[in-house]
Amino acid sequence: MAATDTRVDEIVHGIYRISTWQEPYGITFNQFLVDDERPALIHTGMHHLYENVHGAVAQVLDPAKLSYIILLHWEGDENGGMEGFMRAAPQSELVGSCLSIQLNASGFGLTERVRGFCDGEILDLGQHKLRFLETPHVHHWDSMMVIDETTGSLFPSDLFIQPADQPPVVTEDLSRPMLDLYRAAGIFAHEFPIRHVVDRLEKSELEWIHPMHGGSFRRGELPSYARALRENEFAYHGMLLGREVAKAAPM
Ligand SMILES: [Fe+2]
Ligand SMILES: [Fe+2]
Repeated sequence: MAATDTRVDEIVHGIYRISTWQEPYGITFNQFLVDDERPALIHTGMHHLYENVHGAVAQVLDPAKLSYIILLHWEGDENGGMEGFMRAAPQSELVGSCLSIQLNASGFGLTERVRGFCDGEILDLGQHKLRFLETPHVHHWDSMMVIDETTGSLFPSDLFIQPADQPPVVTEDLSRPMLDLYRAAGIFAHEFPIRHVVDRLEKSELEWIHPMHGGSFRRGELPSYARALRENEFAYHGMLLGREVAKAAPM
């Protein structure tokens, strides 16, 4: 892809959204760069986006200086570029949830320069402090989220997704299209783990929410997304990425 297909925007102090529109999926794929004494990249993007994401990081800082490459669950768009970034930044460590590192990194033969974080543990980047939340089954069992305590920024990965080519910051309520996308894509097995995490997030001190697909939004928008997830069904019901797999059994 052309480098111009990937855009870089600073959303809030030192946090940059790197975003590439992917027509076949109808969503943007976002990575977040935290520019600090020990810089961190949250999500790498898919393997085929590596050159784009690497070039976007280079607009802000030297990619060789990255300290942490953070994946929020083991999936292609989360860490498909990890080999490239770990090679480009020889001092960097791959950071994931305890389960991601114990089960997947180790199972795929990655045993050096890897670090697992369990719920409540903190990673100090300098000015920014990242706190990890284990959020199993949202939507993989090794899923976690990160809160930057310095800016009150939540990185919720695939939660609060919004379809279409969204700008860096969204202000309109996109909770309905979010639900439609979840139903069509089938990424959640059940509503329970999501609602449990939503309850937890609503009690956290958040200023910004930075979804991996869509635009970032302020905390004032959070209640409508939370309500939509609490009051509607959106779990897997026979559709995967818009394709019917099996007729759902009658309830
Ligand atoms: Fe995912
Ligand atoms: Fe994703």
